[in-house]
Amino acid sequence: MTKTVAVINSKGGVGKTTVTLGLASAAQAVGSTVLVIDLDPQANATWGLRPAEIEDGRTTADVFANGAVGTLADAIHPSGWGNEVDVVPSDPRLTEREADHVRVDHIDRFRRAMEGATDDYDLVLIDCAPSLGRISSAALAVADMILLVTEPSALSLRGIEGVERRLTELGDDLGIEIHVGGVVLNKVPARGSEAFRQVDELRGLVGKRAVWEPHVPNRVVLAEALADGTPIHWWGYRAGEVIEVFDQLLTRLRRALRRS
Ligand SMILES: Nc1ncnc2c1ncn2[C@@H]1O[C@H](COP(=O)(O)OP(=O)(O)O)[C@@H](O)[C@H]1O
Ligand SMILES: [Mg+2]
Repeated sequence: MTKTVAVINSKGGVGKTTVTLGLASAAQAVGSTVLVIDLDPQANATWGLRPAEIEDGRTTADVFANGAVGTLADAIHPSGWGNEVDVVPSDPRLTEREADHVRVDHIDRFRRAMEGATDDYDLVLIDCAPSLGRISSAALAVADMILLVTEPSALSLRGIEGVERRLTELGDDLGIEIHVGGVVLNKVPARGSEAFRQVDELRGLVGKRAVWEPHVPNRVVLAEALADGTPIHWWGYRAGEVIEVFDQLLTRLRRALRRS
């Protein structure tokens, strides 16, 4: 079953975590089970999912330090969102794991650690750090599909070509198939503004079909939900438009996974 998605961009602050959690929220709302694996040492997805208590030795930093079969399963924690959503939390020590050994080892470790751990979930979302280093490479290697997240600023759009090129090179280096399933545009302002014009430019850069619809608008309620540690689907009418967007993006994701 193809269900593992790596959410990635080497640039920070573009909304990888927000999109990861928005999709998790949409999946939960239809009763699907979701595992979010946090591979960013800043642990923002972990924070947004509010696991009650993170036990010693049970984060993605430990998963990469150990790498024995099944270590990921040991690091799964219930989230504060409810029964459908679990999290493998991250912690700042993950930064040290980036420097371990050679890159291939990170992939082997993560693959082994994941064995059997995700069988019970309908969807597995891996929230990556703003890097295309060894740990992100491990996420790329285990993912059935890669979702790029970007925002429609001139700088971010210039970056996205480089990211795609780098992903292809990485795939060649590592001997793995890299499959970018789509590009999600986040923090999209109102139609007609200068930033909105950049959306067309992005379509030109990555190909029209690759840019998923609908775009995620810039809405303060998304930042509030992240800070509050609750799914966006709990935010009612204030989040109505954003909820609809993530519901549609989840449908799009499911379709892409069926094809991959
Ligand atoms: N669509 C959006 N509307 C409003 N704020 C957003 C939106 N997407 C992200 N943010 C805010 O921008 C910041 C960076 O987003 P985040 O998802 O953490 O990015 P990344 O994971 O790529 O570093 C966070 O404070 C987040 O709440
Ligand atoms: Mg993040």
